[in-house]
Amino acid sequence: MLQFELLTTDPASHARRGQLTLNHGVVQTPIFMPVGTYGTVKGVMPRSLHDMGAQIILGNTFHLWMRPGLDIMKTFGGLHAFEKWDKPILTDSGGFQVWSLGAMRKITEEGVTFASPVNGDKLFMSPEVSMQIQTVLNSDIVMQLDECTPYETKGHLTTEREARTSMEMSLRWAVRSKNEMERLQNPNALFGIVQGGMYLNLREESLQQLVEMDFPGYAVGGVSVGEPKEEMLGIMAHTPHRLPAHKPRYLMGVGTPEDLVEGVACGVDMFDCVMPTRNARNGTLFTRYGDLKIRNARHKTDHQPLDTSCTCYACAGSSGVAWEQGGREGFSRAYLHHLDRCGEMLGPMLTTVHNLHYYLNLMREVREALDVGQFAAFRARFKAERARGV
Ligand code: GUN
Ligand code: ZN
Repeated sequence: MLQFELLTTDPASHARRGQLTLNHGVVQTPIFMPVGTYGTVKGVMPRSLHDMGAQIILGNTFHLWMRPGLDIMKTFGGLHAFEKWDKPILTDSGGFQVWSLGAMRKITEEGVTFASPVNGDKLFMSPEVSMQIQTVLNSDIVMQLDECTPYETKGHLTTEREARTSMEMSLRWAVRSKNEMERLQNPNALFGIVQGGMYLNLREESLQQLVEMDFPGYAVGGVSVGEPKEEMLGIMAHTPHRLPAHKPRYLMGVGTPEDLVEGVACGVDMFDCVMPTRNARNGTLFTRYGDLKIRNARHKTDHQPLDTSCTCYACAGSSGVAWEQGGREGFSRAYLHHLDRCGEMLGPMLTTVHNLHYYLNLMREVREALDVGQFAAFRARFKAERARGV
């Protein structure tokens, strides 16, 4: 079940404002989806996610298959009840995660054979297996199994021939994923994934074939695979707006705040990335005025919150009044610097809340700008403010 309604489109770019209705609720787009690989957005309680305005989160087929495994998941009737998140969930198929195993795997037409990173058991993932797992998880959006074409193959840039072979297999896996979803009578929405490496002609072929298969939504995969930034921006400018206008478009694994705003301008509706959560745990914070490294000694005595404009719990406390608006309930940079130095758990908890709030709020501002026909002005102001520096 999936309905997608286009609410407005920006006349000056490919940006769109939409509304996506799924089994577990309605999602306003453009949207950022926090990553919850193992059935948890690391360090964040579902209640906090809810308070931050998260509308849909990710889970990973591969990780949840390894642990806790399908037998336990079945006793809960799916991932929603297990992790106590009652809004929409999207699960990645395992294609990217298996790919990340590197030398530990063998990919054939039939599927991927690999040694379990947990106990070394020999395991096999195919499009059919991935659909079977995602059916047990009962995620609202199911991703096809694909092969994420690497930027480099055996020490050289992936050739067009190699990228084509990989892309064509992903297309056959798309057919098998779709057939298996039908056989399983899984009522959730299956997304096809455009591949093709850095070759725009291959991306066009992949896209055309997937569109003919008529998926309820489409993703652009195979970016953020070690390519230079310009290549990523080139694909972002090329592919999303060519996808059917009346279907949701998801750019996988991207990116920085700047990437998100540019992605929206290129016609992307959905994003996910580990960057806000992972960087929070490493002490890199995103703010309206640029990025901030909390480990830097210059924050040692600073009473200001991470982001003086932010209304998150870390920056504004329970009152939700930003420092700039006179609020003084937030945690200081000096305190967060201290928590980091002491390795205290509260440090990454607060910085994760902040970074996710920043991403979710950025998308909220993007939606509001689109609603009132001010996206171009918003985009320009956003860039200027981010370049100012903290
Ligand atoms: N996450 C980031 N990139 C990809 C991709 O190309 N395929 C899949 N399945 N997941 C991804
Ligand atoms: Zn904050």
